[in-house]
Amino acid sequence: MSRPPLPLSLSGLEGAARAALDPGAFGYISGGAGDEWTVAENIAAWQRLSILPRVLTGSGKADTAVDVLGTTMPHPIIVAPMAYQRIATPDGEIALTRAAAATSTTMCLSTLSTVSAHDVAIAVPGTHLWLQVYVFTDRELTHQIIESALASGYSALVVTVDFPVSGRRQRDVDSGFVVTQAVPAISATGMDGAFQPHQTQSQIDPRLSWTDIAEMASRYSVPLLVKGILTPDDAVRAIDAGAAGIVVSNHGGRQLDGSAATATVLAGIVDAVAGRGDVMVDGGVRRGSDILRALALGASAVMVGRPLYWGLAVDGATGAQVVLELLLDELANALILSGANSARALHRGFIGPA
Ligand code: FNR
Ligand code: LAC
Repeated sequence: MSRPPLPLSLSGLEGAARAALDPGAFGYISGGAGDEWTVAENIAAWQRLSILPRVLTGSGKADTAVDVLGTTMPHPIIVAPMAYQRIATPDGEIALTRAAAATSTTMCLSTLSTVSAHDVAIAVPGTHLWLQVYVFTDRELTHQIIESALASGYSALVVTVDFPVSGRRQRDVDSGFVVTQAVPAISATGMDGAFQPHQTQSQIDPRLSWTDIAEMASRYSVPLLVKGILTPDDAVRAIDAGAAGIVVSNHGGRQLDGSAATATVLAGIVDAVAGRGDVMVDGGVRRGSDILRALALGASAVMVGRPLYWGLAVDGATGAQVVLELLLDELANALILSGANSARALHRGFIGPA
């Protein structure tokens, strides 16, 4: 299969996605809340962390393997859960899952998927799948969605806790973007009589509590991660509630503008968790060297969001696969040049002054 050459950077891909999408859809994907300060800071904060390479250390080969939730993953990239992927490509979530499978990447499917968790698992067998959970006011429906995914082999639940209501997204207000016009009217939940995609967001329960997290962590047999943590105290609360880990995230700057960039709070959270759970991070990861920085600060893996959506918009599953391959090439290159050679060998000593 002939593919376009790898782009030199993921930022170039954003322009190509802008050209491929209608302006409202592009704004929904790339935009964030308020003045988009947090969107920009997420990227800038990784770039501010300097790297201290060691020389004459290596074999010229990189080992990208990491340990996540007690299992070995071939590399530390996880597909961030993102809603309504048929906005970008007709196959929607199935296309991104194909890209994940082709690169041995864990795919985290959003509750607001336009394809059911079961259909994704059937379409791309053998993929390492996690389910992101938005807890709906209808707890029985939430439970059914989770049980159906677990029966289809999803191996972790990622409960998103930073969405009691949507952030105020200026680009969507300006464009009047409405999901229902962009995706076919199929049920995002895969449940008979459940909602259409545009209705699902309003079902998210704004009163979700730590008690609910504890109840869910004990109820399901797979590890539960809490996504959307920005402080050490909340990280410890999540672990105390029974979570196997957390995702340090500000939802890609789409919720509360002004929220701290994830790179700036990661180390303090890793220290507070003190090895009692896995700490992952997302937001603004755009280069292999950003992944190296995150692992050096103590993250066990990173989630990547918008660049994969841009890849989908430009060239479907192939476009997303190119994004993952580019990041993996960059990570291997950065590991060798840093002198760490192996992802597991990274530590804080590789991070220099800001
Ligand atoms: C998201 N994100 C998100 N998170 C989540 O838990 N459930 C969801 O359904 C969605 N939906 C969603 C849609 C779109 C279009 C985007 C861009 C993002 C947030 C996502 O999982 C992740 O936290 C950020 O996207 C990470 O930041 P970057 O990599 O996009 O900078
Ligand atoms: C978003 C939601 C749906 O960020 O998670 O658009």
